[in-house]
Amino acid sequence: MAETENWEPKIVAFLCNWCSYAGADLAGTSRIQYPPNIRVIRVPCSGRINPFFIIASLQHGVDGVVVCGCHPGECHYLTGNYSARRKFTLLKDLLEYAGLEEGRVQFSWVSASEGARFARVISEVTEKVAALGPLEKLSKTPH
Ligand code: FES
Repeated sequence: MAETENWEPKIVAFLCNWCSYAGADLAGTSRIQYPPNIRVIRVPCSGRINPFFIIASLQHGVDGVVVCGCHPGECHYLTGNYSARRKFTLLKDLLEYAGLEEGRVQFSWVSASEGARFARVISEVTEKVAALGPLEKLSKTPH
């Protein structure tokens, strides 16, 4: 019981280097507060994220995942974020089929100039995952 009381969600944030990571940096340099629950993984483009990275994260002890990339039309590699959007749409259906609650895995576009938006996205994701509680399904790691 005490373990649950002290529980804090662990969230992996996959951030595209060119927009969202820079947005996170801007949030930091602007001293905009957001929950410290995320662990950032910087990727060259949201299109680089293999859906299995997300599944593996969920199997190994995280309670939620957020993926942030450049806004549509602004991908540094032109179409990487469109590819990501298609993959994540399919992944969401698969995760829902596997019984994962909606909100464990979220996607959002954040540009380099959107430090405040980055902080808001992370706050919303953290709130949602915290409301769902510790991840039981898919997890190979007991909490
Ligand atoms: Fe940012 Fe492709 S470079 S999503």
